Amino acid sequence: MATQSEILQQLIKVAPEYRSGDALAQQFGISRTAIWKTIQGLQAAGYTIESRHGRGYRYVANNRLSASVIQSCLPAEMTPQLIVLPTVDSTNAYLKRWTSQAPLRQPTVVVADTQTAGYGRSGRDFYSPESTGIYLSIGLPVQPQQPFDPGLLTTSTAVAVTKTLAALFAVQVELKWVNDVLVNQHKVVGILSEAMADLESGQVSTVIVGIGINLTTTDFPKKLAAKAGAVVSQTTVTRNQVISRLLTEFLTGYRTYTTGDFMTDYRRLSMVINQQVELKSGTKSLTGIVKDIDSTGALVVQLPSGRVQRVSSGEITKVNLLTGDYHG
Ligand code: BTN
Repeated sequence: MATQSEILQQLIKVAPEYRSGDALAQQFGISRTAIWKTIQGLQAAGYTIESRHGRGYRYVANNRLSASVIQSCLPAEMTPQLIVLPTVDSTNAYLKRWTSQAPLRQPTVVVADTQTAGYGRSGRDFYSPESTGIYLSIGLPVQPQQPFDPGLLTTSTAVAVTKTLAALFAVQVELKWVNDVLVNQHKVVGILSEAMADLESGQVSTVIVGIGINLTTTDFPKKLAAKAGAVVSQTTVTRNQVISRLLTEFLTGYRTYTTGDFMTDYRRLSMVINQQVELKSGTKSLTGIVKDIDSTGALVVQLPSGRVQRVSSGEITKVNLLTGDYHG
C-alpha cells in the first residue's frame, strides 16, 4: 500500500503539472478511492494539493515546514535524518537532549516553526516567531579520529548560509566576523555551534550547528529592532526550499571544511576587511583596522600602535565603515 509520503513525493516530482487519479492508482497499485483518501489526508496535514476535474491532483508549495518536501529537494545521495517540529524550546537544546540519550549515527537535522527559548552566543535570546523564520540545528556525529575544527566549522557555516541566501534572493549578503550574516547592514542570521564531548574519553563526539534566519520577520522586540533585519520583506521562495538549499550547501562544504577551502569565499563576503573595528576577545577590548582574515579564520588586526595582532575568538562590537552607516 502506497504511503502518503510516496504519493506526496510523486506529486512534488511532477509539480506544477497535474497527475491524474488513474495514473496514481496504477502507479501505486491501489484504487482511485484510496488515492483520493490519501490526498485528503495530505490536505488535512497542511499540504496544498489542488484537484481539478479531468486533470487530477497537483502539489502547490506553501509555507508549511515539511520533512518530505525538504528531502525531495536534496540531492539523492544526501539523506540526513530530518525532524520537523511545530514548536520547541530550542532546536539546539532538543538535539543536545537527544544525543545525551543515544549517540547520533548520521547527520540529524531538527527544524522548528517557532522556538520558545531560542538562544545565541553569550547567553542571548534568539527571537524566533512562527512562520517567518527558519530555526534549525544540524547534529553531526564526530568519529574518534575525525579532525574537528570549531573555528573553521563556524566560518564555513556562515559561507554556506550566505551562498544560500545570495542564490535564492536578490539581496547583497555580507559577513561580519565571526559568523553574523548581514543584509542591508542588519543582522539576518545567527549561528551557534556547540560541541558535546564523550564523558569517558573527553573527546568531541557530536557537534551541533544551530542556524536562525530572520527570513521575513519584521516585528522585532524593541531592543533588537535597530540591529536585526529580515532577508526580504516578502517572497514566494518557501522556507522548505531555503532549508533544502542550505543543507545542500552545508553538507557539501562539511566534507572538506577542515582544509579551509572556503576561506576565499569568506574573505570576499566579509564586510570588515579594511574597516576599523572595535572588538571584544575574552576580557580584552581592542580597536584596530582589519587587515585580513587568515586561513584559520582568525582576524588579523592592525592596532593603533601599528602592531599587528591575530584574534581567533571574540566578537566585533562596532564597525566604523569608510562608507555607509552600520547599525551593529
Ligand atoms: C547568535 O547570533 O548569537 C546565534 C544565534 C543562533 C540561533 C539559532 S536558531 C536555531 C538554533 N536554536 C537555538 O536555540 N539557537 C540556534
